[in-house]
Amino acid sequence: MTIETDKDVIGLVKIGKVVGQAMQLMREKLRPGMTTKELDAIGEAFLKEYGARSAPVITYSFPGITCISIDEVAAHGIPGKRVIHEGELVKIDVSAELNGYFADANITVPVGEISPQKQKLLECGKEALDNAIAAARSGQPLNEIGRAAENTAKRYGFHVIPELPGHGVGRALHEGPSVPTFYMRRANARLQPGMVFTIEPHISAGSTQIRKGADGWTLSTRDGSPVVSFEHTVVITEDEPILLTAV
Ligand code: CO
Repeated sequence: MTIETDKDVIGLVKIGKVVGQAMQLMREKLRPGMTTKELDAIGEAFLKEYGARSAPVITYSFPGITCISIDEVAAHGIPGKRVIHEGELVKIDVSAELNGYFADANITVPVGEISPQKQKLLECGKEALDNAIAAARSGQPLNEIGRAAENTAKRYGFHVIPELPGHGVGRALHEGPSVPTFYMRRANARLQPGMVFTIEPHISAGSTQIRKGADGWTLSTRDGSPVVSFEHTVVITEDEPILLTAV
């Protein structure tokens, strides 16, 4: 969406904060030995307390409140019986709605001691999001965002997963435009102040091809390589973008 009124600003700031706080709370409570379902329940209670509704539930009837994706699961992991272990990378993706406004954010959390390769992947993911956000300036072409994310991944010897782009958000979970996380020449629309969308590079240590699991949701890398992703909902301004989900 593009912000038009003060009401839009107030609504987006509110849901951005709730989503960001739910995600941070889940990060803090995450412990090895717990199941992804137990972690999801923490997010569920938090959203309920603030009167927010899970966006994937109300939009797609997703069988969980948040998406929790471990290691080779790139996205849309269903919270369930899978136990979280030391050495894993856990992606906590929270999106929710409040008063008709939506926000979406994702963080990758290392569990205890992780391998040097995963550590490098984690640093790469954080830097890719930072660099992509820095490219999100009014007047710039949208594809500079993807260029920045892709170049960061390449510098580390990794690659973004092209099938998982960012997206417009605000009045719904998924709106236009698509925000590629690689350099897509034709995605050259100029960014305008007030535009609201997500930036969410997904970076794989190996294959960037993903396949859907038998459950109809889980998206995993073909070769089982681990994936990191970091996401914020941003608002374009004349200056630096506002990160609605950073708390
Ligand atoms: Co998203």
